[in-house]
Amino acid sequence: MAQTNSGPPAGSNGDALIVFGITGDLARKMTLKALYDLCENGTLKVPVIGVGRSDWSDDDLHQHAREAIEARFEAKGTGEIDEDVFKRFADNLSYVQGDYNDFDTFRRLKQAVSFAKLPVFYLEIPPSLFAGVIQRLGSAGLTKNSRVVIEKPFGHDYQSAVELNDQIHEILDESQIYRIDHFLGKEPIQDITYLRFANSLFEPIWNRRYVESVQITMAENFGVDDRGSFYDSVGCLRDVVQNHILQTLALVAMEPPSAGAEPDSIRDSKLDLFKAIPGANPSRYVRGQYDGYREIEGVDPKSETETFVGLRLDIKNWRWFGVPFFIRAGKQLAAKVTEVRIILQSPPQVGIGGGPIPATDELVLRIDPDAGARVLLEAKQPGEEKLHRVHLDLLFKQQFGDQPGPYERLLADALAGDQQRFAREDSVLETWRIVQPLLDNPCPLEPYRVGGWGPEGASNLMHGYGGWRRPWMPDKQPVPVAAG
Ligand code: BG6
Repeated sequence: MAQTNSGPPAGSNGDALIVFGITGDLARKMTLKALYDLCENGTLKVPVIGVGRSDWSDDDLHQHAREAIEARFEAKGTGEIDEDVFKRFADNLSYVQGDYNDFDTFRRLKQAVSFAKLPVFYLEIPPSLFAGVIQRLGSAGLTKNSRVVIEKPFGHDYQSAVELNDQIHEILDESQIYRIDHFLGKEPIQDITYLRFANSLFEPIWNRRYVESVQITMAENFGVDDRGSFYDSVGCLRDVVQNHILQTLALVAMEPPSAGAEPDSIRDSKLDLFKAIPGANPSRYVRGQYDGYREIEGVDPKSETETFVGLRLDIKNWRWFGVPFFIRAGKQLAAKVTEVRIILQSPPQVGIGGGPIPATDELVLRIDPDAGARVLLEAKQPGEEKLHRVHLDLLFKQQFGDQPGPYERLLADALAGDQQRFAREDSVLETWRIVQPLLDNPCPLEPYRVGGWGPEGASNLMHGYGGWRRPWMPDKQPVPVAAG
């Protein structure tokens, strides 16, 4: 019988990375290139062992990794594989073939990692397999001094997340569990905390006295063509709102983390924030489905799954009482752009010397693509007694150059034993609690056209708040790549 334990101490380094699902889509699109990048910058020094069901040799995996990495360079449009780095990476990359339900796979895996004192297991496999794989890792005696990184989605609703946590906790202590939300590994998401708490400019206005409303947009200009059957069982609310968007919202709205050396202070602040959000109100919820979705392979021809959601959340605390947080997310929209927009209250509408009446100022934090911050202000039109909208822009790439990708950051953190950028059990349950009323009472589906901004009903949510602002677009739209 497998035993739970308290796991390795935070901050101690893992000495092997075992990737379950290395032959899958997410590995091809994200993980292999992230590991190659970590090898290039000298962070990845430990052996990587891929586990998969495909009947591959080490050489097959190396060839697959090469193609996946080359494809990522190609999609980015710059750079090429460095043969020395690839050799270093491939020399340390091996493969264990096996069925995840077969204990023999774990017996062979145990032999392959016998050198490791602190293995880090990364599960990028279908969620229905998480509990079973952890159970078998435990039975094989592999979890005693290990960490386990778990991909999203974590649960399907509140109850299933509780059950999954319970099953996993039979084997692992919370300190060993690293639940991935790749948004938390994105530099511009981490930057929200820095921007807010490293500058005294923002904190005085970051509250209900100055902020009128907040809009969070996560728009994607592509559909779900290559993963219809997965997406159809999930839908937009579960796919990106319960996790990515609520985690982002928490960083925007949480109280300053405590100043002590608490490793968990940011996660504690986020938890307090989630607790202050009542369950979402189904009468302030809109669901849409893009035209043509039902024809996609793997999608039920009568599917009622949403590919767009719009909703309003309220936060019941002193800082935010009365300030609506509007969220919209969807596929096949006009652009690929994720942003947080803080809309300030109007200045008194008395005009300037009896002259023009100013509009509201806004602060935009663009997460993707081409991350940056923009302040929208009113200025005087030269030569006239008129106001003119101007903007101050900060593009992180111009200031800092290329930034590391989310998987690079998160896999390095897991190896180093830093849980800060992973979703903790209590927060995951809170986020499910918040969206659960919408899962229980889904509103009727509205169709919307490909290439627009979603169904008409999404605008009704904004009544009295000036409508959705057109997102701050990057100058050029890069080729989009979905993460998972
Ligand atoms: C994934 C979702 O978690 O995040 C996808 O499953 C979505 O549907 C993706 O496209 C978006 O991630 P990113 O990093 O491309 O914004």
